[in-house]
Amino acid sequence: MRTPLIAGNWKMFKTVFEAVAFAKEFKSLVKDVANVDIVLAPPFTAMHPVSEALRASNVAVASQDLFWEKDGAYTGAVSPAMVREAGAEYAIVGHSERRRLFGDTDVAVNRKVRAAIDADLTPIFCVGETLDEREANATLAVLDRQLQGGLDAITGEQVAALVIAYEPVWAIGTGRVATAAQAQDAHAHIRGRLRTWFGADVADRCRILYGGSVKPDNIAELIAEADVDGALVGGASLDVRSFGEIVTNSRRAVI
Ligand code: PGA
Repeated sequence: MRTPLIAGNWKMFKTVFEAVAFAKEFKSLVKDVANVDIVLAPPFTAMHPVSEALRASNVAVASQDLFWEKDGAYTGAVSPAMVREAGAEYAIVGHSERRRLFGDTDVAVNRKVRAAIDADLTPIFCVGETLDEREANATLAVLDRQLQGGLDAITGEQVAALVIAYEPVWAIGTGRVATAAQAQDAHAHIRGRLRTWFGADVADRCRILYGGSVKPDNIAELIAEADVDGALVGGASLDVRSFGEIVTNSRRAVI
């Protein structure tokens, strides 16, 4: 039985002041929600104050990225332990914007996934194809390459505990959501790979989120699919009401 997980990725939005105001309002809005794991990923600058504002609530914090080294001369980088100390329990790793704009390769993403696990953070490991790749019928091959690379040297038990986010790049920030059937196909493929590589038990326990233009009015349809265990939400997580609605519309009878 997999508990649904809804994560909001704020990207480079919200000042500390705005982030804390959101956190305070949001935690009272969702305080009675049970059986859904709720996560917010503010920018680094707001992680600690948001964690403080969410203390003793049912909302956890994620970082949007991290670096794999413990410490050292890495200007601009933030270590897994620093992220943990700032109050995060999760770390988004391998988001397509990091891959595209900041050059994160599959090897780098794998280092980050392993470093997050070593620091007791739950990775939200993102994979997904571009529009060109989908149109060239390369979706499944791209997913295989990203999964194989990102999960290299990770044990079955660790895979069972982490979170995978399937985010077709063409659906991110475009308003062009994948159909529930397209999401289910990709998720079933991902879970099938996990089953082959790590066994049925690991595949059944690992949560696979969908990301890409998730809104209050399409979450129910997406999460009704057998292999969709929640969502990674960008734009619609910036507004308290709309993110709250996504959370409340995401409850389903899980198998
Ligand atoms: P979006 O972003 O919901 O704005 O499409 C999703 C994401 O990038 O995680």
